Amino acid sequence: MIFGLGAVALLGAGGYLYATDSPMLSSVGLGGTPKPTGPFVPKKEDYQKVYDAVAEALIENDDYDDGSYAPVVLRLGWHASGTYDKETGTGGSNGATMRFAPEKDHGANAGLHAARDFLEPIKEKFPWISYSDLWTLAAVCAVQEMGGPTIPWRPGRADHDVSFCTPDGRLPDGAKDQKHLRAIFGRMGFNDQEIVALAGAHAVGRCHTDRSGFEGPWTFSPITFTNEYYRLLVEEKWHWRKWNGPAQFQDNTTNSLMMLPTDMSLIKDKNFKPWVEKYAKDQDLFFAHFGDAAMRLFELGVPFTSGEDARIEFKRTE
Ligand code: HEM
Repeated sequence: MIFGLGAVALLGAGGYLYATDSPMLSSVGLGGTPKPTGPFVPKKEDYQKVYDAVAEALIENDDYDDGSYAPVVLRLGWHASGTYDKETGTGGSNGATMRFAPEKDHGANAGLHAARDFLEPIKEKFPWISYSDLWTLAAVCAVQEMGGPTIPWRPGRADHDVSFCTPDGRLPDGAKDQKHLRAIFGRMGFNDQEIVALAGAHAVGRCHTDRSGFEGPWTFSPITFTNEYYRLLVEEKWHWRKWNGPAQFQDNTTNSLMMLPTDMSLIKDKNFKPWVEKYAKDQDLFFAHFGDAAMRLFELGVPFTSGEDARIEFKRTE
């Protein structure tokens, strides 16, 4: 009897230690009793596996838009994060509240269901990752796989319910000007140089009439991450497009590219313009500044329990 109780106590303590110390292990204990296993605690290698799965899906699904989901996946990560308000600490990528109405129906988020649906099979394959970690990790993957800079990323976001949805109007409106850009990005805590660097993401992707109402790509290589956006802003001549859609600019040479009024404000503003010119001349500088600013963007409002040394630099696919 005494022996029996001791064995139970021993197994109990062993089980507890097992659950906390080696949560990933699952095996059969004494006498065929399954040892309790704790929650799965992912390591850096596990996040790399998620990165690899997103990269593979990007390669496989090459029949979307200009041949890649990468631009719209980047936009999902940015719109999840860009709702951050530094005064109240609300918004940001933590929570992934864009899964719910009203946030998913905000005008600025039109079309982002394509990115969320694209990532759903990845979430099914790796159920342990939160949507909010997945969306930002996937955005990092999208930039890197399009040839852009490495963006260090760390986990720690938790999904929240509908009550955490942010109010409409926190994301920028392309029909506006530099004053608006400073108000929106200033609310997130970004300065002029970072605003110009982040806007360079418009090297990739395009506008869709059924989403924003605007139409067309910004560059000739909409699925490759380069500094072409700045080169076109500086070197090309632009005119207002004559059409029935919202006011946007068109390039004089081919009439096939576009710029939003907010894009054009970057060369109209005397403090923004020098950064546009620097990035147009120096792609390495743009990549360095974009990498830093995007890393911060994706971390806004996240209550990390880990330090900056927990950041992961994902290996790209060959
Ligand atoms: C500066 C203020 C910004 C404004 C006003 C703006 C506005 C827009 C608009 C109107 C679209 C077209 C959406 C559509 O019709 O599908 C768009 C697309 C896009 N934006 Fe921005 N954006 C801004 C900043 C950013 C930033 C900071 C990033 C990322 C760091 C970004 C990444 C993208 C990408 C990748 C697309 C292409 C999406 C696709 O191809 O489906 N944008 N943006």
